[in-house]
Amino acid sequence: MQDTKWWKQTVVYQIYPRSFKDSNGDGIGDIPGIIEKLDYLKELGIGAVWLSPVCKSPQADNGYDISDYQDIDPIFGSLADMEKLIKEAADRDIRIMMDLVLNHTSDEHPWFVEAKKGRDNPYHDYYVWKDGTKDVPPNDLRAAFGGSAWEWVPECGQYYLHQFAVKQPDLNWDNPKVRKEIYKMIRWWMDKGIGGFRLDVIDLIAKEPDRLVLAEGEHLHTYIQEMSRETFQKAELITVGEAWSATVDTAKKFSNPDGSELSMVFQFEHMVLDQQKGKEKWDLDGLPFIEWKKVFTKWQQGLHGKGWNSLFLENHDLPRSVSRFGNEGKYRVQSAKMLATLIHGMEGTPYIYQGEELGMTNVRYDIEEYRDIETLNLYKERMEQGYSEMEIMQSIYAKSRDNARTPMQWDDSPCAGFTTGTPWIRCNPNYTMIHARAQMIEEDSVFHYYQRLIKLRKQERVIQSGGYEPLLEENPYVFAYIRQLGSEQILVICNFTDKEQHIKELQEWENGKLLLGNYIEEHDRCCLRPYEAKIVKEDAQCEKE
Ligand code: GLC
Ligand code: CA
Repeated sequence: MQDTKWWKQTVVYQIYPRSFKDSNGDGIGDIPGIIEKLDYLKELGIGAVWLSPVCKSPQADNGYDISDYQDIDPIFGSLADMEKLIKEAADRDIRIMMDLVLNHTSDEHPWFVEAKKGRDNPYHDYYVWKDGTKDVPPNDLRAAFGGSAWEWVPECGQYYLHQFAVKQPDLNWDNPKVRKEIYKMIRWWMDKGIGGFRLDVIDLIAKEPDRLVLAEGEHLHTYIQEMSRETFQKAELITVGEAWSATVDTAKKFSNPDGSELSMVFQFEHMVLDQQKGKEKWDLDGLPFIEWKKVFTKWQQGLHGKGWNSLFLENHDLPRSVSRFGNEGKYRVQSAKMLATLIHGMEGTPYIYQGEELGMTNVRYDIEEYRDIETLNLYKERMEQGYSEMEIMQSIYAKSRDNARTPMQWDDSPCAGFTTGTPWIRCNPNYTMIHARAQMIEEDSVFHYYQRLIKLRKQERVIQSGGYEPLLEENPYVFAYIRQLGSEQILVICNFTDKEQHIKELQEWENGKLLLGNYIEEHDRCCLRPYEAKIVKEDAQCEKE
């Protein structure tokens, strides 16, 4: 029987509000701007929107540092704007997902302002503290954005834990009061009609810093189950946890089909292979393509019937996929469509990151033009460590989070139609060529190709829920797989090179029907042109006729 959960049949679109659409000329995207563009999203065919954080925040990490979970930051609008967005989206059958940042708050959150007043303060235990002396932190734990994960507070004579920036103190989930407050807040948003949540670094909440354990702490799944029972399970919500540590085994718990935890997680195994083993993302390396394909196979087969995958190649923390895995030059359009085909042919819920549907690319700016705290910290740290400026900039061009954060390219008017003012971050100069207005007119655009893929998923049950078999596993240039459901079979095949590839195995698919491809006409089933992608359907039923 087909699983009828709505979120297994939909496609989610991620909005990074600050860079999406500015409605009042202050250079920062906002909620009224999103409302203006709902028809665009409807046209694309998506069923849910994940908004990166819009709650009140000093913006030390662009909103991932929340100072009031129950209010909207004035740069994005008001609570009334948010309510209007939920309603206007619902009118178009689009659900709004919020980003829940529950591992930490801002240091300006009233809880933390109280907590750091002293050890006796009732909020002190809302955060994670350790004794120590001023110059000797409790241990060597490092923060994700550089430096020690411990910050000294003289008023308390203690250190607090921050897995990210100093301004992002970690919440203490072992304190039942913290958990209760959080659940109450989530229910408050649910009452406002929120359709789901993305849970920021959810695998880190149950940290055990004494044991140097941050991800997958002993109580992690107990806490998530409790939260799910107290909140999400009361409605048909979509929930997706961000979990860099996830393995197929832990993902089976996170996305248990019994609904006891979350709908699914974002795992990143396919996102960490183009770096030197055991090093950081900045330590660049070529993509080991065959290994990369195996990672997808492992996840597709591992969660089939036992969990649920989220499918993505981009988000606000990752570079642009066409620059990373495709060809941002001559074959930009073909390779953007090819990458889309790869992801949208798999089992799971696909996520499209704003601008991905236009084939937006990475940027190369001078260091002064970057805004991201992680990028700026990295630059400083590596300069101090004696890396050459050129080497650092190569890493930043390839991996900086700002690659994904340049303004959405709406049209070719100044600032890409994103703002009438000065944008908070410079526009990618290629906006005069790559923009939504042109692509909505042009039949053969990347935008329309995404639209077709989304339609196809809705029509083809085999895409929604068929099994997955890899093909040509050892081929270093071509990514191919078969999806199967009952008597139906589809083949998805993608050429990852700028050369023609002749695949004799495709003869077996000679009589299949081409459901979709990224070249206008197919001239030879067995030949893949540069970055060509095809979805071919073979129906045992048809064959008999
Ligand atoms: C997640 C977010 C990222 C943020 C970090 C800290 O990884 O996606 O943008 O900086 O958590 O909240
Ligand atoms: Ca604005």
